[in-house]
Amino acid sequence: MTDPGERLRSSLAADLPPAGAEFDSPIAMEAMRATRVLHAGEQDPFPPPGRIRVLTIANQKGGVGKTTSTVNLGVALSLFGLRVLVIDLDPQGNASTALGVEHVVGTPSVYDALVGEATLGEVTHPTTASPNLRCVPATIDLAGAEIELVSVVAREHRLRRAIEAHLHALPADERPHYVLIDCPPSLGLLTLNALVAGDEVLIPIQCEYYALEGLGQLLSNIELVRAHLNPGITVSTILLTMHDGRTKLADQVADEVRNHFGELVLSTVIPRNVRVSEAPGYGQSVLTYDPGSRGSTSYVEAARELAVRGAALQPLVPAQPSPAAAPPAAPPLNALVLGQSVATRTQEDS
Ligand SMILES: Nc1ncnc2c1ncn2[C@@H]1O[C@H](COP(=O)(O)OP(=O)(O)OP(=O)(O)O)[C@@H](O)[C@H]1O
Ligand SMILES: [Mg+2]
Repeated sequence: MTDPGERLRSSLAADLPPAGAEFDSPIAMEAMRATRVLHAGEQDPFPPPGRIRVLTIANQKGGVGKTTSTVNLGVALSLFGLRVLVIDLDPQGNASTALGVEHVVGTPSVYDALVGEATLGEVTHPTTASPNLRCVPATIDLAGAEIELVSVVAREHRLRRAIEAHLHALPADERPHYVLIDCPPSLGLLTLNALVAGDEVLIPIQCEYYALEGLGQLLSNIELVRAHLNPGITVSTILLTMHDGRTKLADQVADEVRNHFGELVLSTVIPRNVRVSEAPGYGQSVLTYDPGSRGSTSYVEAARELAVRGAALQPLVPAQPSPAAAPPAAPPLNALVLGQSVATRTQEDS
């Protein structure tokens, strides 16, 4: 498999100055790549999607790059001209941290929107990464939401309703092109809300042993959601993350994932890159922290692929907000086998 950094280098090299010119050094090339990322707005923007894309970034396995991918894809799309809303749906609040958005207890957050105390617009914050990128942060309050929502009517539709109402309230030219929902590492009520809210699922898969373990459970849960709660949901994108080019194993996992998922897998692979892991510590994406790094340029390429695929989608048929009292054509949540059931978790937590 072609190394993504190599592929990117060769594509960038195509319009670099000829050998011997003053830019012909690795450092100069990196500087040039950094300039391209930083001045993304002056280059050809990414094509807008044919309809608003609500992408749920999910994988119940922890630490596979869900948050990193949500944040960096979001920043890349926004730097290249698209409007993006990142919804942090993980009580850990990692996406909020990486986007430099306050998320101490008491900050207006996604929790308030889920429990119906605020609209999504009221809890949407600007980010420093780009004026095109806004974020709904998560605070630790969200940890209680799974339990608080158990007795609420249509609890699995809360996020969808909030997003629909938000999109309808915004003037067309302010609506985000992309809504990216960062899920927690579980298949509980929060992830269920995200799967009901999304049209597409993006699954990050870490190029490591055990990467595919648990994936079957995720896919069958998505099928259950599709059958009972959200007929529109599909797995549209697989992103290979943390690829370590020095190991055979990483290539084997990548090949296996490609054999299994075919064209769903983006051809760009995100390499393991220390700059990617350092960036959140500075409240930044890797694109702003070290724009010329391989982590940064790979996320730009992955976002470009995502955008090109999105441009081919059918135009949006304006969705009407679901009637508040409409009962979901589905069995009650506790009857759905979504990993650990909410009922079980409530007992354990009490
Ligand atoms: N390409 C990469 N190179 C190096 N480190 C990475 C890369 N991608 C992610 N990481 C690091 O791996 C760790 C896990 O990543 P991340 O938080 O994005 O995963 P996650 O799936 O959101 O985790 P969780 O399940 O806890 O929400 C983080 O410390 C992150 O900085
Ligand atoms: Mg995360």
